[in-house]
Amino acid sequence: MRISVVGGGYVGLVTGTCFAEFGHQVTIIEIDPEKIKAINEGKPPIYEDGLEDLLKKNAGHRLRAEDGYESVAGADIVFICVGTPPKPDGSANLSYIESASCSIGEKLKDIPGYCVVVVKSTVPPGTTEHVVRPVVLKMAKKTEREIGFAMNPEFLREGRAVADFMNPDRLVIGSSDPRSGKQVEEVYTSVRAPLIHTGISAAEMIKYTSNAFLATKISFSNEIGNICKNLGIDVYDVMKGVGLDPRIGPLFLNAGAGFGGSCFPKDVSALVSLAEHAGEKPVLLQSVLAINEQQPSRMITILEKRAGSLAGKRIAVLGLAFKDNTDDIRDSRAVPVIQMLLAKGARVIAYDPMAAPNMKKIFPAIEYCPTAADALRGADGCLVMTEWPEFTRLDKEFDLMAHTVIIEGRHILSRKDREGICW
Ligand code: UDX
Repeated sequence: MRISVVGGGYVGLVTGTCFAEFGHQVTIIEIDPEKIKAINEGKPPIYEDGLEDLLKKNAGHRLRAEDGYESVAGADIVFICVGTPPKPDGSANLSYIESASCSIGEKLKDIPGYCVVVVKSTVPPGTTEHVVRPVVLKMAKKTEREIGFAMNPEFLREGRAVADFMNPDRLVIGSSDPRSGKQVEEVYTSVRAPLIHTGISAAEMIKYTSNAFLATKISFSNEIGNICKNLGIDVYDVMKGVGLDPRIGPLFLNAGAGFGGSCFPKDVSALVSLAEHAGEKPVLLQSVLAINEQQPSRMITILEKRAGSLAGKRIAVLGLAFKDNTDDIRDSRAVPVIQMLLAKGARVIAYDPMAAPNMKKIFPAIEYCPTAADALRGADGCLVMTEWPEFTRLDKEFDLMAHTVIIEGRHILSRKDREGICW
């Protein structure tokens, strides 16, 4: 199939590259000339496990990137993968979706044949039908018999996006007519996964609901963890026992610093805003966000209880990325933690295997170390903010600290006797 993918960010680049690997002819439409150059040279502009190999294999062959929408005119199917960043009130900004729809519509004008426009971006329910569809049809001067519409959400985890794309746990295709749904299904014939066809708005809602539920599991675990802490109970033991119930499941029950990243905070806020506009009071989802906001300051409070005043203290922050296996710091819990430490007069010494260059753009003046041991040397306290596997092996390195006060924001350390570790 001939596929155009609008947007060469995390979602568009992984989607386009994997479609090319499936054997389709793919054009990624991107506005950033540096990204276009990198993609065409087979060099991923972002880090994703396994992406470089696939990009090298397909770039200049079944995959190319360009800045115009010309490829849309010859496409069987167009995937919209542009960003939907949050507006100040938490709702999703749909301006990139609208302008992509406009440009797609213009190119579909005067082109014979059937094309399906698929939204893959995370969008509020109703967007595909009430924003994308009318704009495309108006610009193309066509009817729904000539252009189909569908919504096909992605459930890709950062750092593991290629593997998730190739082996998804489900495929969701929302469409209002069988023909467009079938055409989207054909793109995925090489994927083995349960497939569900839904209405377009239901598909849009499935994405928000999945992320909101996972975020709820984390905030629920954090609330239980905060109660357990006061009662002197180990929350990880508790969740080990709780997660064995198949109705609950063991994943996403890790209490700690809370959730960050480009999806959970943004999508739960968008869902809250959506609910409020619909006249609902989404108290559960509001609490999920409120608990998450509190967790970093709880870590600072525990640190102060153990280390005393932080003024002039040397505090090591281990982990800057919002989770392991990525250099992404969007909404990382390390950001508010560093802000609070600086506000309290602490000297922040940071280490991350990948994310230091990105964090330097936000905090250029703090100290960055090449290893965890360097960050810990002489430190009066340490906060573990990211679940990097290499932190699980840290043991003797903690003996380099001036005072072994270790606040574990991710339950990953394996230091013998857990000496000095507190959560
Ligand atoms: C998430 C969803 O998992 C994915 O399906 C969706 O498409 C995009 O959002 P991602 O943001 O890449 O993926 O990260 P994820 O692995 O889900 O972790 C999100 C955050 O939750 C991280 O900050 C992580 O540290 C935190 N987390 C995760 C916890 O605090 N506790 C847990 O038990 C699990």
